[in-house]
Amino acid sequence: MKTPQDMIPVAVLGATGMVGEQLLALLAHHPWFRVVEVAASDRSAGQRLGARLGAAGRALPSSIVEVTLKSLDDAFEAPLVLSALPADRALEVEARLAGAGHLVVSNASAFRADAQVPLLVPDVNPQHLDLLDAQRTRWGGGSGGIITNPNCSVAGLVVALAPLHQAFGLRSVVVTTLQAISGAGRPGPAAGDLVDNIIPFIGNEEDKVEREPRKILGGLVDGAIVGADFTVSATCTRVPVLHGHTASVSVAFQHDAKPQEVVQVLRDFASPLTGLGLPTMPRPSIEVLDDEDRPQPRLDRDLGNGMTVSVGRIRRCSVQHASFVVLSHNLIRGAAGAALLNAELAVARGWLAR
Ligand SMILES: NC(=O)c1ccc[n+]([C@@H]2O[C@H](COP(=O)([O-])OP(=O)(O)OC[C@H]3O[C@@H](n4cnc5c(N)ncnc54)[C@H](OP(=O)(O)O)[C@@H]3O)[C@@H](O)[C@H]2O)c1
Repeated sequence: MKTPQDMIPVAVLGATGMVGEQLLALLAHHPWFRVVEVAASDRSAGQRLGARLGAAGRALPSSIVEVTLKSLDDAFEAPLVLSALPADRALEVEARLAGAGHLVVSNASAFRADAQVPLLVPDVNPQHLDLLDAQRTRWGGGSGGIITNPNCSVAGLVVALAPLHQAFGLRSVVVTTLQAISGAGRPGPAAGDLVDNIIPFIGNEEDKVEREPRKILGGLVDGAIVGADFTVSATCTRVPVLHGHTASVSVAFQHDAKPQEVVQVLRDFASPLTGLGLPTMPRPSIEVLDDEDRPQPRLDRDLGNGMTVSVGRIRRCSVQHASFVVLSHNLIRGAAGAALLNAELAVARGWLAR
């Protein structure tokens, strides 16, 4: 058991938001990392963190809630920075911190499309972490760098797509997402707009869902990502579910596959993280559910402590080859847990000393 002095000091940016608070909850009992610095907007700087959190956050250990929120303009000491900032602030702040030598692991979209930045899902494309090498001279800070995790809907979708792409070759993906309220951050949509309703539009979301899977499932060739050769068509909707993004998916393959073969490939998925001892490793990465009315957010989003992606309703598609439903916890697999797993892989690969 490590003493606090042996643990890696971590700064959490955007600590007062939906993702930030989930990060703090997961970090409260993390065996490798300890929170030493927190920051949010200028509105929060100088305040006690506990005074700016929701009810669940205020119940976190005093070692966390008693920390004073810094300004993003301050210098940070923690070598590892976990960012849950809005994308527009992330663009400037994350680059500056990478330049100051920090390893920044980000939930924001600011650098996801950047050719030198890994868009990482450790149980899908761990080799993309090598892109960090391309950043060595980019920020001027020696050991600094930026790693991102995908959009919260893509985070679950791509775990289901990865083994299918490897086995059958994806040609096209048509996806409709049913995204939870917590995906919109604080304060989120007004209750009066959501109850008894579905909102068939989420700003900037469809573009991410159509673009990010191709980078994640792309190959790393001579130090650069070559995007995977399939197309994605996405419709993104907001539904009155608290946590857990559901996606209705249909896919066409290079080679036809029967529903039983799709089930088998998903069930046989072997995580490349097995044996690395990463504390947040999904156990398992994918759970295939046989009941005809699963997955459901309330029943299945917490599988594997929120890191398991559940897949069900696997069937023949009468337009493409196969249809299925994917569910993942947007705040854990889609954000805080994803960022922690990225940081853990970076540590295991020697990007940060333990
Ligand atoms: N929610 C999800 O499911 C999810 C999933 C994946 C990725 N993400 C991404 O993660 C990031 C955080 O999302 P969230 O849902 O946690 O959002 P959120 O609940 O709105 O929280 C935003 C956080 O950023 C701070 N902030 C807001 N405006 C700022 C500014 N101008 N300068 C500096 N800090 C500012 C807020 O601090 P104050 O309290 O001081 O305002 C708060 O700590 C976003 O980039 C989002 O796209 C979210």
